[in-house]
Amino acid sequence: MFRVNEDYLKLPGSYLFSTIAKKVAAYQEKNPDKKIIRLGIGDVTQPLCPAVIKRLHEAVDEMADAKTFKGYAPDLGYQFLRDIIAENDYKQRGVAIESDEIFVSDGAKSDSANIQEIFAKESKIAVCDPVYPVYVDTNVMAGRTGTYDSATGLWSDVIYMPCTAENNFAPEFPKETPDLIYLCFPNNPTGSTITKDMLQEWVDYANKNGSVIIYDAAYEAYISEENVPHTIYECEGARSCAIEIRSFSKNAGFTGTRLGFTVIPKDIQTPDGVMLHSLWARRHGTKFNGAPYIIQAAGAAVYSEEGKRETKEQIAYYMNNASYIYEGLKSAGYTVSGGVNAPYIWLKTPDQMTSWKFFDYLLETANVVGTPGSGFGPSGEGYFRLTAFGSYENTVEAIDRIKAL
Ligand code: MLT
Repeated sequence: MFRVNEDYLKLPGSYLFSTIAKKVAAYQEKNPDKKIIRLGIGDVTQPLCPAVIKRLHEAVDEMADAKTFKGYAPDLGYQFLRDIIAENDYKQRGVAIESDEIFVSDGAKSDSANIQEIFAKESKIAVCDPVYPVYVDTNVMAGRTGTYDSATGLWSDVIYMPCTAENNFAPEFPKETPDLIYLCFPNNPTGSTITKDMLQEWVDYANKNGSVIIYDAAYEAYISEENVPHTIYECEGARSCAIEIRSFSKNAGFTGTRLGFTVIPKDIQTPDGVMLHSLWARRHGTKFNGAPYIIQAAGAAVYSEEGKRETKEQIAYYMNNASYIYEGLKSAGYTVSGGVNAPYIWLKTPDQMTSWKFFDYLLETANVVGTPGSGFGPSGEGYFRLTAFGSYENTVEAIDRIKAL
């Protein structure tokens, strides 16, 4: 008789955003005439920008012509896109990343989920708490997290780095030394950031301890403050300890078209010279047939002059929503943070409500959907996340409804 991967059975409940989607669908079914405003999952609402749409159309037409038709994409990504990324995201920032250190993928979610595969099963992981649930869940699936304590919401073999109002939602060095450190800045879910000097300390810590940092920079395009690093490779020594994961979803609206990339510098090596770069290339070759040509062509258009201008406008649009949420809630007496370098606003639930209680309360009384902070980890209890990715009209309506409660 077949047996299942029992590590999957350890996962408590369903994936956070699936749980929310089910709850909202059930509420809508019971209340069909209510207009629900969704500020839960960080999904964009603005259409793809004209430069991207134009390139998509052209690329589709290329597929109709035998001379320009493309079959399987190169598993590591088309060279034209890898070159553009290396130039724009790294070289122009004075950062030495070569195009062959860039692995194009179908998105940052898959990469942040899969990257753990190239590390030993016994690897000790450290995560911020609260945290994007993919990092922990995928390590649970890989049998790396020990046992789950439903009373505390903690896994016995995971090192948690609480990010609370007391430490300005920035992790502190853990007592126990991790092998893998997941960091995400600008942060999902708290919307916080750390300065370049603080990130440098993490890079120094990782190099000193032989740890690898998995740096999720999916929200990089939302950085508005000067001293916040756009890439971990701005820090000295990051080439020997850091993997960076990037997305086209949040900066250019590719949530539905899927595109992202991971950077693995060739300098990250075991003492006997095994390069993580080679392992990831091997994995990509075996498990991935490349992101579609059409989508990679559209991704390259994000870096054209028009693409840069148009995507900047979209980011400004979402950040205008972010300030509306931030200011609106603040004026209504909520304790809020985030929303300055990230499209997420992190608020304290009123009247000591638990995160899930506030979720239900908001859904039922204001018909607004957000994300319960405790869904991201125990330190998120008593907090709630709202996303700025809605339309401006819906954002205004949602905040006005909350203020009227
Ligand atoms: C989120 O809402 O946290 C993200 O949108 C989820 C994701 O990007 O997978």
